[in-house]
Amino acid sequence: MEHGPIGVFDSGFGGLTVLKEIETALADNDFLYLGDNARTPYGNRSFEIVYTYTLEAVKWLFDRGCRLVIIACNTAAAKALRTIQQKDLPRIAPARRVLGILRPVTERIGHRSKSKHIGILATAGTVASNSYAMEIKRFFPDITVVQEACPMWVPLVENNERGGEGADYFIKQHIDRLTARDPRIDTVVLGCTHYPLLQEKIARYLPPGIEIVSQGPIVAESLADYLKRHPEIAARCGRGGRREFYTSEKAVVFDKLATLFYGKEIHSREMEFSR
Ligand code: DGL
Repeated sequence: MEHGPIGVFDSGFGGLTVLKEIETALADNDFLYLGDNARTPYGNRSFEIVYTYTLEAVKWLFDRGCRLVIIACNTAAAKALRTIQQKDLPRIAPARRVLGILRPVTERIGHRSKSKHIGILATAGTVASNSYAMEIKRFFPDITVVQEACPMWVPLVENNERGGEGADYFIKQHIDRLTARDPRIDTVVLGCTHYPLLQEKIARYLPPGIEIVSQGPIVAESLADYLKRHPEIAARCGRGGRREFYTSEKAVVFDKLATLFYGKEIHSREMEFSR
């Protein structure tokens, strides 16, 4: 039986915050990470472009033997996952699986809120897709979901400006807008891979008593559970703890900032999408 690593895809660096958490639950598994840094950010891009880029990445990971791919980018999962699962997979690779990072959060989040009012902080693209709100409503029809797009937050992290006063200004601005729209919110989801790096400041500007939910640990728990429930997929996932990192940018550029997200040093390789 052929084995392959679990593919983890993100528009750039952000998925490393998710992989870091997945690894704590599934240290033995092999992982192949792909960051599309040459075309990042996806957050403000159209549905068509995000879908096209994400499908290219999934095919590339399939070509490298991945039987299971995690789309560890909220924007890509929100805008492209459903079409890939329903339209492309049955045609190109019916025995392989592609999972996103919204569902693990949306199917659990209703149990975390007492007031039944939940806030979502995400990129403009994720908010425009309305995916978080629709999915949460599907599992918890009585929950009110309020969303806030924070277009400056990804550049703040990627430009290493999160420690500065500019970061405080933009973080407070969006938190204030979110809580003003619905003062009953008691749970806030960080619906973007970069936001865990801003968590300290987000907590500073949120009114006390609001729980901040970071998706990495939830995705990790959900993936471990998925592999238990799908032994036929788990049996095709390579084990041995190998890690490989690919980027569509220059490897030196990727490696420099990647540590911030992953917490460990990374030596990546370059890839190119064939068009
Ligand atoms: N990874 C993206 C997300 O989680 C953020 C970066 C981007 O906009 O590409 O939405």
